[in-house]
Amino acid sequence: MAAESSPCSAVDDVFYQAADAFFPAQQGVALTYDDVTLATQYSEILPRDANLETTLAERLHLQIPIISADMDTVTESRMAIAMALNGGLGLIHYNMPERQQLSEVTRVKYHVHGLIQEPIKVSPEQFIGDVLALIDERHFSFSTFPIVDESDHLLGLLPGHVVRPRYAARKVSEAMMPRASVHTIQERELQPDPIGRADKFFNEHVGIHKLLVVDDEDRLRGLFTLSDIERITQEKAAPLKPGRDSQFRLVCGAAVSATRNSTGELDQARILRHVGALVERGLDVVAISTAHGFSQGVGETVRLIRDAFPELPIIAGNVTSAEAVEYLAKCGANAIKVGQGPGSICTTRIVAGVGIPQLTALYVCSKAAEKCGVRIIADGGISKSGDIVKALTLSHAVICGGLLAGCPEAPGQIMEINGKLYKQYRGMGSPAAMKAGSAARYGHSKDTTRKVAAEGVEALKEVSASLDSVMTQLVGGLQSGMGYLGAPHLGELQKRARFARITPAGQRESAPHDIVEVKTGAANH
Ligand code: XMP
Repeated sequence: MAAESSPCSAVDDVFYQAADAFFPAQQGVALTYDDVTLATQYSEILPRDANLETTLAERLHLQIPIISADMDTVTESRMAIAMALNGGLGLIHYNMPERQQLSEVTRVKYHVHGLIQEPIKVSPEQFIGDVLALIDERHFSFSTFPIVDESDHLLGLLPGHVVRPRYAARKVSEAMMPRASVHTIQERELQPDPIGRADKFFNEHVGIHKLLVVDDEDRLRGLFTLSDIERITQEKAAPLKPGRDSQFRLVCGAAVSATRNSTGELDQARILRHVGALVERGLDVVAISTAHGFSQGVGETVRLIRDAFPELPIIAGNVTSAEAVEYLAKCGANAIKVGQGPGSICTTRIVAGVGIPQLTALYVCSKAAEKCGVRIIADGGISKSGDIVKALTLSHAVICGGLLAGCPEAPGQIMEINGKLYKQYRGMGSPAAMKAGSAARYGHSKDTTRKVAAEGVEALKEVSASLDSVMTQLVGGLQSGMGYLGAPHLGELQKRARFARITPAGQRESAPHDIVEVKTGAANH
């Protein structure tokens, strides 16, 4: 039974206020995560039962509201795969040639499928050497291929064990397993449960790892692999499900910039070509990532993409004002990134003197988001799971950079310094990252002969546990916070949040103190 209001709860209401009472009462002061704490509430839910699903656009649902930052030391395909497998989302950065970004997205989308609807095929006339080159060029992690004629009729299967350099000069037709020996299933036999049907097939056919799907005329229509099916059936029992699209592929996002041509105008053709190619590869969301989202260039880019791809979810930013949220929403963005200068590697506030501490920025932006029907993503400054709980009282997802940069799944080499292991973590506005391509994000030219003001630093993060363990800690902390607030889902977390400001003494009291710490309680921080 829910707690009823009483004279005692009226006392709480005075001291622990809902966002709409608390933030307006702090007018003129901008607060961030450590400036406030949340009051606990009557609860009927266990943390493990707290539902973390979030919707960022009509076509973008996440199982958990955590996104890895589009930074060149945080998210490439390996991180994006791990994030999606944990139910979140990775945004592949754009500090790489467009072609490479396409293949990074392809790797995520190809990672685990139920039915692979467009399997990579080869022709009997090709040489094994051609197939090896294809694997190399497209970074395939598999080497077994169906063989078809020009009309897609199945002719056989090229098994992985013959795809070797020593057979490079041989034709595929010489090494293939003939059609009669290849296991297939009719497409019409798959319904109503294709995964269950494939699972049954693999149970019945010991040692067979591939099942090809054909139509009535024996044309290839798809492919199941044993490892994909095993993973998917295991997932069904897991409490947190991976993020998948309607074709069972992992979800993946990618960032693009408001690219300009040599005359300084928005390079519309190039942006559209690249986004079109990303969409073709199955991209689930595009992020237009810049330091100043309330700008003509970002607005025009969002409008351009919205007009060309009406259904593609768009994240745009970064902003910290209600007017900016309204602007990007009108241009067609679905979710707006809030955060200017809170990032652990950011120096925007020092260099440019601008930016707003995160909680106040989130509150202000959330007011506009409610009116405009868009979502808010808290980007930067998250250093512990408690910050995620606080951020989600005013937003629909968080973006983490520094918290994930030490994971083995983040790009970059591990280095050893004085016996400790580190990975590089750098701001996208740092000199090295801008030189590598991200200067546009900060409104500068990539030409390093010109002097530009960097807005980020190059740093190191101690190597942390795997992304799975870090996410377990973060998700556990978030669910714990929801349990304390009696919030069964994220919508209720927003409704039930009651804030109080804390002083430096309160902050000191909030962390371990007056002890000699022998074992830290956190996996990553
Ligand atoms: P955290 O705190 O998670 O922040 O490490 C990651 C976010 O920081 C932003 N970012 C930057 N901001 N200068 C900035 O002012 C930079 O060089 C820079 N690089 C990244 C970005 O929003 C990211 O998600």
